[in-house]
Amino acid sequence: MTGKVFAEDILQGKVAFVTGGGTGITGGIARAFAAHGARLAITSRKEDNLIPMKQFIEENGGECFAVASDVRDFDAVQNAITKTVEHYGKIDIVVNGAAGNFLCDADQLSPNGFGTVVDIDTKGTFNVCRAAFEELKKSNGQILNISATLHYLATPMQIHVSAAKAGVDAITRNLSAEWGRHGIRVNGVAPGPIEETEGMKRLLIPELQDKIKRKIPLGRFGKIADIENAALFLASDAASYINGVTLVVDGGSWLLGTSLA
Ligand code: COA
Repeated sequence: MTGKVFAEDILQGKVAFVTGGGTGITGGIARAFAAHGARLAITSRKEDNLIPMKQFIEENGGECFAVASDVRDFDAVQNAITKTVEHYGKIDIVVNGAAGNFLCDADQLSPNGFGTVVDIDTKGTFNVCRAAFEELKKSNGQILNISATLHYLATPMQIHVSAAKAGVDAITRNLSAEWGRHGIRVNGVAPGPIEETEGMKRLLIPELQDKIKRKIPLGRFGKIADIENAALFLASDAASYINGVTLVVDGGSWLLGTSLA
């Protein structure tokens, strides 16, 4: 949970729709937005992943609406958006955090394995943006896409995620250019190696962790709170002239080729 870096009311009155909002980095963003005044809607494929987060937010005095949907399914996403608007009356902020990941050499990866990750990360991000567009237009809202740094250089065993996140970055830039005129800001956050995440558990065997940590310019893995703070800043009025940017939050890692996220 974020400390007292920002005023507690910086997102007061806002409604945030967060995909993958039950767990991990985007779960942290959901918690942090709620702690700073936003009313939350969280969605994920599995309802079981949403319930503990909903309870946490409500026990801490926030509001949280949980609705299951698979971001690959446009109709399901549209339904989740519609239900959120029925519940809160509007949506101001969309966070695209739902993602799939696993390590696999390119010569072992099946076309369906490649496509599955692209469908979740890239097509899923488009689906949610597209479904939320009319609401975001009404609210002069904004979109925050969770990316990665894997594709800045080359990351072995991550061709599928690298391609998917490169697509996410393209969506961030294109939509910022097309939807800026509607008052919608579109930005991204690219986390580096963040400890205590599913991605880190899946991607980094413990023996590698110390070796990689030594190569990170700031000398430590990131924390979920580091991403929460970046997301809070971009979502706040302090960033009202920032549009089309993907903010790298990685302690300088990717510059030295340490970009596993
Ligand atoms: N290695 C190689 N291929 C894999 C794989 C792995 N570890 N996991 C899935 N695949 C392939 C499957 O073999 C299948 O392809 P095939 O039909 O050619 O065999 C394809 O991906 C779809 O797999 P499936 O399990 O049916 O898809 P799914 O929709 O149920 O789930 C993921 C796919 C990617 C979401 C899931 O495997 C996953 O990794 N979830 C974790 C999410 C996560 O890590 N989030 C944090 C992101 S940083």
